[in-house]
Amino acid sequence: MSAKSTATGANAVGTDDAYNPYLAHRYPNSQAAKPVNGNDPLHGLIPRRVTATQAVNIMDGEINPFTKKPLSPNYKKILEGRKKLPVFAQIQDFYDLYSKNQIIVMIGETGSGKTTQIPQFCVYSDLPHTKGKMIACTQPRRVAAMSVAQRVAAEMDVELGKQVGYTIRFEDMTEAGTTFLKYMTDGMLLREAMNDPTLSRYSTVILDEAHERTLATDILMGLLKEIARNRADLKIIVMSATLDALKFQKYFGSPEKPAPLLKVPGRTFAVETFYTQEPEPDYVEAAIRTALMIHHAEEPGDILLFLTGEEEIEDACRRIRAEAEDLERQHPDTVGPLNCVPLYASLPPREQQKIFQQAPGPKTPDGPPGRKCVVSTNIAETSLTIDGIVYVVDPGFVKSKIYNPRIRVESLLVAPISKASAQQRAGRAGRTRPGKCFRLYTEKDFMKELEEQTYPEILRSNLANTVLELMKLGVKDLVHFDYMDAPAPETIMRALELLNYLAALDDEGNLTEMGRIMAEFPLDPQMSKMLIISPEFKCSNEMLTLSAMLSVPNVWLRPNNQRKEADIAKAALAVPGGDHLSLVNVYNNYIENKYDSQWAWNNFLAVRALQQAENVRNQVQRLMERFDLDLVSTSDERKFWQNIQKALVCGYFMQVAHKEGEKNNYLTVKDNQVVALHPSCGLDATPEWVLFNEFVLTTRPFIRTVTEVKVDWLLEYAGEYFDIKTFVDGETKRALQRAVAKKTGVPYLETRPSTGKRSRDGSETPSEARRKKDRKGK
Ligand SMILES: Nc1ncnc2c1ncn2[C@@H]1O[C@H](COP(=O)(O)OP(=O)(O)OP(=O)(O)O)[C@@H](O)[C@H]1O
Ligand SMILES: [Mg+2]
Repeated sequence: MSAKSTATGANAVGTDDAYNPYLAHRYPNSQAAKPVNGNDPLHGLIPRRVTATQAVNIMDGEINPFTKKPLSPNYKKILEGRKKLPVFAQIQDFYDLYSKNQIIVMIGETGSGKTTQIPQFCVYSDLPHTKGKMIACTQPRRVAAMSVAQRVAAEMDVELGKQVGYTIRFEDMTEAGTTFLKYMTDGMLLREAMNDPTLSRYSTVILDEAHERTLATDILMGLLKEIARNRADLKIIVMSATLDALKFQKYFGSPEKPAPLLKVPGRTFAVETFYTQEPEPDYVEAAIRTALMIHHAEEPGDILLFLTGEEEIEDACRRIRAEAEDLERQHPDTVGPLNCVPLYASLPPREQQKIFQQAPGPKTPDGPPGRKCVVSTNIAETSLTIDGIVYVVDPGFVKSKIYNPRIRVESLLVAPISKASAQQRAGRAGRTRPGKCFRLYTEKDFMKELEEQTYPEILRSNLANTVLELMKLGVKDLVHFDYMDAPAPETIMRALELLNYLAALDDEGNLTEMGRIMAEFPLDPQMSKMLIISPEFKCSNEMLTLSAMLSVPNVWLRPNNQRKEADIAKAALAVPGGDHLSLVNVYNNYIENKYDSQWAWNNFLAVRALQQAENVRNQVQRLMERFDLDLVSTSDERKFWQNIQKALVCGYFMQVAHKEGEKNNYLTVKDNQVVALHPSCGLDATPEWVLFNEFVLTTRPFIRTVTEVKVDWLLEYAGEYFDIKTFVDGETKRALQRAVAKKTGVPYLETRPSTGKRSRDGSETPSEARRKKDRKGK
């Protein structure tokens, strides 16, 4: 390292006595910094003026500049590989743009080294640790954030969770004061922005996989644009392999002066693509057949197969395992063992990690090698490098969310993927060696039928949570927020309406104290509301349990060959009032049985989900404590379940259905959708009013996780929403009228003038009633 420092000393910059090498640019007549320590490999660097030669020299050194320990042989081995990545060839181009611009758009082939290298390049130039700042790199998916952080920690020869870490919902693998490179889900960065609106902890923010256009990334883009105006020191990089670059450049710059683009050509290993000659009538069948064909006939190398959802994946795994065993038996000399591993979002992180395990070895010393087959949803579509994957099987479908604001229903539908997705999927092969991608659709369909890009999530989601987050971020004018693609005004209106009914926003659209607390919970607004209100109903312990149980995968197991036994076990744990109550009961029994896996197993309960619930419950409990929300249960046994039902009404009163006619049909309140109780529903009767957690569309519209509620509670705790005047004529309205008449003793007359007395409107909760009374009294 050069020692020709010509620094003029501390006085040059005023009050600081200690000479700070990283403020060298502020010292007149100085090009480089004075050594703090002669061994510091970073000595002499001027932040954000670093050259490729300087950075590579340090990487090639013997001492780790961040830990000051000798660099390991593994580091050096990985570094050799890194230097071959296309991104590495353009490190100086990157630094030129990074030094001179605040916002850069970057595009480079899958596997070219964007996610792993660019943040590291930033580290060497930005030197965030010297200013107590961090570099954030966002990922749309948790599994990507975790695995990339792990890889980069290895590349930088540091321990994961120290200098390099990750943050995902319910898990923070960083160390305050030590971590300076943080991979995180886009949702987590958005959450941080709520409490730190200028993202002051970060010196560079990298939005990765921006083509996915997740809700959180879209909102972050709007926010970052605004923050950038006020923070000249903040650098922003937006990247992906499959971006519509010009659209992003214009958005971050202007149509006349688009933001600069760094384009990295080339890839490390080729991926050969194959199409089917004819369209496949059944994509699951075709996918399973293709995986088995590869296992039977192709060279060694692991398989990654994309399907759409948990059930489909588990089912496919079972079939692939069974048929692969047959193949192995029939061809012991050519077909080795196959390890089939599922991957989907609701799988606990520990299970997800299994996709990174090595393929099984040969059964006998001379036998054919084994193979791994990962069957995944699109969570493995971007970012991931699974070492060993050579073959990708892409049937071309994804389960995608759509929201209908008119009936307030968000549903998941299987739909064709976009070209960008297909390219990302293919890009999971060819990372550590050449690969092959089998597309189970025709080339003509790829060219003609698939959309170029994935439709932005913001245009197809319920925005209640997002609007609450934006309000917390201080964005008042939701309609004119700088969206890359603005959501439908009706969707925003629906969200505002819900938040107003939940008392998170007042009638002027301002965030209330309740709304402020709700925004702190990483849960749906309805669920946060129910939790925050629950101490007033003396059931906060139970609601905490319920929120955890509703946040984890289904706990009820129902194996095909033991359905009857499973149903009997479920009935024994069910509470007659409804599924929500049964979930609380299951958890309480799990605790009474001392978290015993065997007990769970005997009762056909998913141990993993129960364990996850325990974890989520602990985390949400900490939030409750932070806001001084009492953790209480009633001592009055008769009221135990009823209190829970009442607190549920306070959160989920917009998800209520009324029984109509004789056929056990229900009509959702106000939205008037005809629905049936889902077959999994544990109610033994069909009560007049029910509250549901989910609307699902399969063979017909169903409501799932359903609990009985009383009309009096609806009137009392959600009086505004259940104001009869707002209902169209029909059975639901008549039922409400009857209930009001019964309650007040006055027959309801539609045209009755307002008396100013609003007793039948009821007040939302005991405390809100009290507050209203207090206000009147003043
Ligand atoms: N866990 C890993 N094990 C082995 N090699 C890895 C690993 N992670 C990354 N690599 C290597 O680094 C390369 C670059 O990975 P990186 O994730 O940075 O690419 P990328 O440009 O972000 O790709 P994508 O657009 O698909 O996200 C990979 O192609 C692979 O060769
Ligand atoms: Mg990447």
